[in-house]
Amino acid sequence: MQKITIQETQRRKDKPADEAELGFGTLFTDHMLVMDYDWGQGWGDMRIVPYGPFQMDPACCVLHYAQTIFEGLKCYRRADGGLQLFRPVDNFERMNISAQRLCMPQLDIPAVMEGLKALLRLDAGWVPSAPGTTLYIRPTLIATDNLLGVHASRSYRFFIILSPVGAYYASGLAPVNIYVEENLVRAVRGGVGFTKTGGNYAASILAGARAEEKGFAQVLWLDGKENRYIEEVGSMNMFFKFRDGLVTPPLNGSILDGITRRSVIQLAQAAGYPVTQRPLSVDEVFDAAEAGGLDEAFGTGTAAVISPVGMLQWRDRVIRLSGGDIGPLTRQLYDRLTGIQYGTQPDPFGWVTRLD
Ligand code: COI
Repeated sequence: MQKITIQETQRRKDKPADEAELGFGTLFTDHMLVMDYDWGQGWGDMRIVPYGPFQMDPACCVLHYAQTIFEGLKCYRRADGGLQLFRPVDNFERMNISAQRLCMPQLDIPAVMEGLKALLRLDAGWVPSAPGTTLYIRPTLIATDNLLGVHASRSYRFFIILSPVGAYYASGLAPVNIYVEENLVRAVRGGVGFTKTGGNYAASILAGARAEEKGFAQVLWLDGKENRYIEEVGSMNMFFKFRDGLVTPPLNGSILDGITRRSVIQLAQAAGYPVTQRPLSVDEVFDAAEAGGLDEAFGTGTAAVISPVGMLQWRDRVIRLSGGDIGPLTRQLYDRLTGIQYGTQPDPFGWVTRLD
């Protein structure tokens, strides 16, 4: 087990005055965790140090070839003031899957969990308590060799930073409008679409910016081969509620194996709603909606939680769902999921790790 050394900051920052005004990922806490890897020596000790910039050589290979992966998970404040994490080990397991695809070293998950808990103990005062707020945790692994050959790096830096956050979308729980992208693609089979690597997000920025100009919050990606099957939204997996149950695209290698997605499948099934994971074409969704057979659509993600979709546009076809409001099943799943996450409802699944 790696040692953890702690260097406390001499100057703690002011906390946000109004937690209800927290956006997403703009403020960071007083400390961060850092751990370096060197080929031949393995992982060094974990250091918790004051939050601050890294010094990097301009030839640092992550800046050129994007050998980088990250995760996103959250720490919740319960009504009794205590803190808890939601499925944290699932995040680090997924990070190891991303690491394998990107030729990066595996994390020792129990050791990293100890480091994360030590960091959270030190910055516990930053976990907000206003409704809908959390402390977002961003573990990241970057390649740090300073050379321009395209190879797996021999040195890496792992770090965890923490950010008090509110809703991911400015609209909060109000339904989002989504544009179905049909020219640009996010990922293809055999690529890195299933990993949380920076390049997937960089590849999505152009389509996202164009959609925003048209007044949409996000882009819905179609498959890279036929431009027909629904993939994901980039920050969310997608669910559609048809008359006979919920449908979500299968894990086909080009979409993320979302931890909120997994949880929602289990919660829906536990509540008696059938969930099918199957290829779902965009024309099936629009045809069903136009025939009155699509009741609700929502996205799931750690940052986005469960976000209802109010409107979808594909070419010149527009569908509006749930009268512009959150649909009843979306609301039920949102309440159940967040009830477990914030500790107001029982957790029969063993998803929660209490920190006190
Ligand atoms: C998350 O939901 O944690 C994500 O990583 C999405 C992110 C791009 C905000």
